[in-house]
Amino acid sequence: MLAEGLHKRFDGKAALDGFDLAVPAGTVCGLLGPNGAGKTTAVRILATLLRLDGGRAEVAGHDVVREAPAVRRQVALNGQQSTVDDVLTGRENLVMWGRLYHLSKRQASLRAEELLEQFGLADAADKRAKHYSGGMRRRLDLASSFITAPSVLFLDEPTTGLDPRNRGEVWREVKRVVAEGTTVLLTTQYLDEADQLADQIVVMDTGRVAAQGTPDHLKSKLGGDRIEVVVRNSDELPVVAGVLGEDAEVDHDAFRVSAAVVDRVAALTRVTSALAAKGVEAEDIALRRPTLDDVFLAITGHKAVAEVQS
Ligand SMILES: Nc1ncnc2c1ncn2[C@@H]1O[C@H](COP(=O)(O)OP(=O)(O)OP(=O)(O)O)[C@@H](O)[C@H]1O
Ligand SMILES: [Mg+2]
Repeated sequence: MLAEGLHKRFDGKAALDGFDLAVPAGTVCGLLGPNGAGKTTAVRILATLLRLDGGRAEVAGHDVVREAPAVRRQVALNGQQSTVDDVLTGRENLVMWGRLYHLSKRQASLRAEELLEQFGLADAADKRAKHYSGGMRRRLDLASSFITAPSVLFLDEPTTGLDPRNRGEVWREVKRVVAEGTTVLLTTQYLDEADQLADQIVVMDTGRVAAQGTPDHLKSKLGGDRIEVVVRNSDELPVVAGVLGEDAEVDHDAFRVSAAVVDRVAALTRVTSALAAKGVEAEDIALRRPTLDDVFLAITGHKAVAEVQS
């Protein structure tokens, strides 16, 4: 899958502003970025649901504009909007999708049974989807994306709002289709999800690529470990920030200040005695490796939404 210089405007405002992407076949690319970065727009263009204004893109070996029907035959999309048919039961929905993917009646019904079980819908299999809860609809919708293994699968925030068990099932299915050769482009607000699944991460901001690489590569770009100091009193935050130096990041809600360090243990000793000298008694002082959260924050200046909500 390849995109070069994609542009898309809505009402004169750029949603994509020179977006590039290269995803080798059979790998998973995780697309991260703050709300409004252009993730869904990029996915919809690549899945031929939206027309691009400039640039070019190839999916499953076909041009998304000139050969859109050929692309459509080889891709599946699970979007932020559901494709569940309300009038049908959960089981009927899955069998219908199986038939659309050219499974025999028997295969479609076997696969429906497996997926109902796996996504915790077996008990509700014969209820009409309009009586499903939000979470159940979401799971049914997701299950329909995993009936077969398409050449390319687009998953737009597949696990937003799912509980941990169901997130695990989605991850398992993603790994299964990838093992069968599917290329996956997945957007997510959860950095641990990208860490788990993605071979390559692309961080988007304001319609273009802000950073990309493997999860490890991105973490190592931040350079080394971080020291974190938590205080009891928010008045002490500026004092701690002064001790940790110019690059210190202050999290006012968590009463926490952190900064990159190069010399681990020496830094710990230095910070501890500097704080004592200023009469600050820290609640906690710790060293830790950078996480994708740090990467995201450093690149976009925002936290991932998932963390803001928690
Ligand atoms: N159909 C539309 N009409 C007008 N503006 C749109 C439309 N779709 C997207 N936009 C705008 O384009 C920009 C990118 O939106 P997009 O949905 O691609 O972001 P996103 O990264 O998927 O965000 P989120 O994390 O909230 O899902 C936003 O400013 C959005 O308001
Ligand atoms: Mg979106």
